[in-house]
Amino acid sequence: MDISVIGGGYMGLVTSVGLAELGNTVTVIDLNESKVAMINSAQAPFFEPGLHELLQKHVGSSLFASTTFEDVADSEISFICVDTPADETGHVNLTKVKSSACSIGLALQGLETFHTVVIKSTVPPGTTESVIIPLILGKSKRNFSTLGFSANPEFLREGQAVADFMHPDRIVIGVSDGRAEEILTRMYCKIDAPILTTSIKSAEMAKHVSNAFLATKISFANEVGNICKNLEIDVYDVMRCVGSDHRISPNFLSAGVGFGGSCLPKDLKALIHLAEALGEEPFLLHAVKKVNEKQPERIYRLLERKLGKLKNKRIAVLGLAFKPNTDDIRGSPAIPVIQSLDAKGATVIAYDPLAVENMRGVFPRIKYAKHPLEALTGADACVLLTEWPEFECLDSEFDAMQTRIVIEGRKILLCKNKEGVCW
Ligand code: UDX
Repeated sequence: MDISVIGGGYMGLVTSVGLAELGNTVTVIDLNESKVAMINSAQAPFFEPGLHELLQKHVGSSLFASTTFEDVADSEISFICVDTPADETGHVNLTKVKSSACSIGLALQGLETFHTVVIKSTVPPGTTESVIIPLILGKSKRNFSTLGFSANPEFLREGQAVADFMHPDRIVIGVSDGRAEEILTRMYCKIDAPILTTSIKSAEMAKHVSNAFLATKISFANEVGNICKNLEIDVYDVMRCVGSDHRISPNFLSAGVGFGGSCLPKDLKALIHLAEALGEEPFLLHAVKKVNEKQPERIYRLLERKLGKLKNKRIAVLGLAFKPNTDDIRGSPAIPVIQSLDAKGATVIAYDPLAVENMRGVFPRIKYAKHPLEALTGADACVLLTEWPEFECLDSEFDAMQTRIVIEGRKILLCKNKEGVCW
């Protein structure tokens, strides 16, 4: 099929290379000219395992990038994959979704061939039918006889997004008519996963609930970890026993410094905001958010317990990305940890395999090391905030520190004499 994808970010570009890999011809439309130029030269604008190889394979033959919406007219399906950021209150900013819908509508004006518009961006339940569809019908001056719509949320995890696209647990398709369902079922037929068809707003809601539940599991593990730490119990031992129950599953029960990323925190806030707008009090979701917000504080409280005042102390921070295998620092717990250390007058020297340049944009004044040993040499303490595989075997490097105080925000080190944030 000929497909256009609006948005060349983590979701849009991974979806584009995945659809090209399935045998479709895909045009990625993004207003950022430098990003479009990078994609057309088969360069990935961000790190994602497997993305570079798929760009090399498909760019110029079945994958193209453009800054204009003209290609939408030649495509059978267009995906809206632009970001939908939420503010502190959880109110979701739909500006990019609305402008994409208008541009798609204008590009579809005067055409008679059936076209399906798919909303993959995470939008509050009800948005597709109350905002996006009316915009596209209005701008295109067409109706449901030649336009189909679907909400098709993605569940890709950064750092494994390409694998998650090709091997999802399920594909959720929210549709309002049979033609859109048939077209999307055919488009996804080569992927070995159940296709769950539902209403458009159920699909929109399933995305929020999935992420809110994942966040709940993590905050639950962290709350249990905080309790266990007082009892000198390793929460990882406890969760190994608890998670082996098929009703619970071991996944997403890893306690640590809290969940980050651009999705879990945002979608949790959005669901809270939605509930409150409906007059429902989301007690549990508020608690999940509160546990997560308080978790990073435990890192510097532990440091103060071991070092006393942190002023002028040299603290090595290993790991800046919100998780391994990505350069993304959005929502990273490293941000509040560094903020607090900086505010307390500590000298921070940070290292991350991929995310240093992104973090330099947030904290231009702190020092950045080129490798772990440079960060550790002479440090009074070390906090490990991202479980990069290369940290696993660190041991003698910690002896280069002034004092060997090692605090794990993520469980990864094999060596002895270290302490976990909640283990
Ligand atoms: C998440 C959802 O998993 C994905 O389905 C959705 O499409 C986008 O949001 P992502 O944010 O990329 O994916 O990363 P994920 O692997 O979910 O981790 C999110 C955060 O939770 C990370 O900061 C990670 O360190 C943390 N986490 C994860 C834990 O603290 N404990 C866990 O057990 C798992």
